[in-house]
Amino acid sequence: MIFEETYTMNNGLKIPKLGLGTWFIDDDKVAEAVRQAVKIGYRNFDTAQAYGNEAGVGEGIRTCKVSREELFVGSKVTAEHKSYEEAKKSIDETLEKMGLTYLDMMIIHSPQPWMEVNQSENRYFAENKEVWRALEDAVEAGKVRSIGISNFDVEDMKNILEDCRIKPAVNQFLTHISNTNFEVIDFCQKNDILVEAYSPVAHGEMLKNEAVADMAKKYGITVPQLCIRYTIQLDCVSLPKTANPDHMKSNAELDFVISDADMEVLKQVKKIENYGDASMFPVYGGKL
Ligand SMILES: NC(=O)c1ccc[n+]([C@@H]2O[C@H](COP(=O)([O-])OP(=O)(O)OC[C@H]3O[C@@H](n4cnc5c(N)ncnc54)[C@H](OP(=O)(O)O)[C@@H]3O)[C@@H](O)[C@H]2O)c1
Repeated sequence: MIFEETYTMNNGLKIPKLGLGTWFIDDDKVAEAVRQAVKIGYRNFDTAQAYGNEAGVGEGIRTCKVSREELFVGSKVTAEHKSYEEAKKSIDETLEKMGLTYLDMMIIHSPQPWMEVNQSENRYFAENKEVWRALEDAVEAGKVRSIGISNFDVEDMKNILEDCRIKPAVNQFLTHISNTNFEVIDFCQKNDILVEAYSPVAHGEMLKNEAVADMAKKYGITVPQLCIRYTIQLDCVSLPKTANPDHMKSNAELDFVISDADMEVLKQVKKIENYGDASMFPVYGGKL
């Protein structure tokens, strides 16, 4: 059962291989989604200050009837916070909003503020070191157990690795069939940084891909199952989003193995450039 499977991060702590993404689950709906997911078996939850649903995720965690120690809860410092003080204050606000005494994971959401992603050469190297220092201090203060980064390229990671006190435990970035950054994955894995695959179903766009549907049919599984399994076979944490309990259940039925030959085929699927209505988001190559 996938729910029992974990990776051990570079700090010795464990993280479940499958998590629930919560982007676009409204604050007033997400507590119930979290409770349902916990009932089904999910133990890993991903939110962010920018999702506007930390309060609801926290409520779900506090009311799900499974003890806090059995759950893995992560959030992200907003991409626009690029100073030590802003980051530190925002971590305290996250804990306050969620009604939790600690987080399992806190991540820098993006090396650049969203308005500058895909538009500016400024990688905010000095500022990201300051934000990282705030995350390190949050670990030392017992507010956060593990810290990580998101959407960091190799140069952004090298900047942090140069003089950090605590190494990033994870890098969370876009990873799905047809769009897998093997250079970043390789750098992470060589440096013992676990990859968290976000948008493993391409924000829903993979459901429209015929080549992927054909392969799913061959295995007698659904497209999301194939997509999620693909990311796990790349040794990534997979973070599919859904508020639908039927989807939560089927997304966790991953008791099959994609053959090496088919993994190679999936690695070659033509890159999708169009993420439908979501195309304008910087994470999919858009500009705000
Ligand atoms: N760090 C970052 O910058 C960043 C960026 C993007 C995402 N993320 C994280 O990654 C998570 C997942 O990414 P995502 O939300 O972009 O998209 P995703 O998980 O790739 O896809 C979600 C879409 O797939 C559909 N879906 C999921 N399971 C399904 C199933 N079994 N059958 C049919 N449809 C299914 C969902 O619809 P239903 O809701 O109807 O099931 C939704 O429309 C986010 O929620 C967030 O936590 C992080």
